[in-house]
Amino acid sequence: MFRIEKVNENNKQCVIDFLRLDVIRHVFALYDILHEPEHTTMYTIFEGEQLKGYILIYTAMEFPSVVLECEGDIAERLIKYAPKNRCIIHVSPSLLPIVTRKFSDEKHYVENWMLVKRGEADFFRSKLVRRLCADDDASNLAILLSSQRDRPKRSVKKYIDLISNESIYGVFVNGKLVSYAGSFIQLPQVWMIGGVYTDPRHRRKGYATLATSVVTEEALKHAETAALFVRSDNCSAIKVYEKIGYRKIGEKLWVDIGTGMKP
Ligand SMILES: CC(C)(COP(=O)(O)OP(=O)(O)OC[C@H]1O[C@@H](n2cnc3c(N)ncnc32)[C@H](O)[C@@H]1OP(=O)(O)O)[C@@H](O)C(=O)NCCC(=O)NCCS
Repeated sequence: MFRIEKVNENNKQCVIDFLRLDVIRHVFALYDILHEPEHTTMYTIFEGEQLKGYILIYTAMEFPSVVLECEGDIAERLIKYAPKNRCIIHVSPSLLPIVTRKFSDEKHYVENWMLVKRGEADFFRSKLVRRLCADDDASNLAILLSSQRDRPKRSVKKYIDLISNESIYGVFVNGKLVSYAGSFIQLPQVWMIGGVYTDPRHRRKGYATLATSVVTEEALKHAETAALFVRSDNCSAIKVYEKIGYRKIGEKLWVDIGTGMKP
């Protein structure tokens, strides 16, 4: 007999305890419920007293981001709680048939889930790299990312907030920011690395390797593991991560429901 519960103050601790059993697997849910509760709605499914899965809807970005995590046969009961349209759903490949049954016009992309553990990374260091500081570098970051296609443009204020709140490193050539990488989720067990990007005119010069290396080095000073997602057909990014020591541990799907966003 299954029972669905919306997560609230009364049952939250039990859910947190469940997520902590496998922090890597549940990294987004654990981070959102602990640090972004005002932007997070979560429904859990129980069989008796046993928590069997959840759907989480995170609403602080341009489009809702949904994490569906459970065994196949019960996913049907949880997907009902996903937004009706315009969202991105993150699921394991085995759940795709259930998602497509509800959203026939979906578009999906395979992402490699990669991680590196403390003691297993190779670092690449350079004087060209430094941490970004909020006010000075926000416009540098806005200029760098203006060359990025398929991404909504953000205000300089957004970049000031981003740099103030996250660990973001950049590669500077003749004073110009040409590449950056950051960590957007930081838990004591794992830091998630993301936002890796190099100006198209400066690619294949090792700059993304430098930026990703330094943020990975910082991550592994604080946590046992650094992890990231990368589209499985993004050969140059995968090469960067492998050079540093990241290895693939699994696959996830990025399912786009009407947003046009790609990973
Ligand atoms: C992925 C990206 C960050 C790489 O930036 P970069 O500064 O060119 O990376 P680096 O120069 O450090 O390393 C690129 C590596 O990929 C290799 N490479 C490039 N194109 C490749 C391809 N098609 N297949 C295999 N390897 C490739 C390069 O040879 C280089 O490896 P090497 O140093 O051993 O020769 C850049 O292409 C980019 O910004 N892409 C768009 C954003 C993106 O996809 N970000 C990653 C999100 S997870």
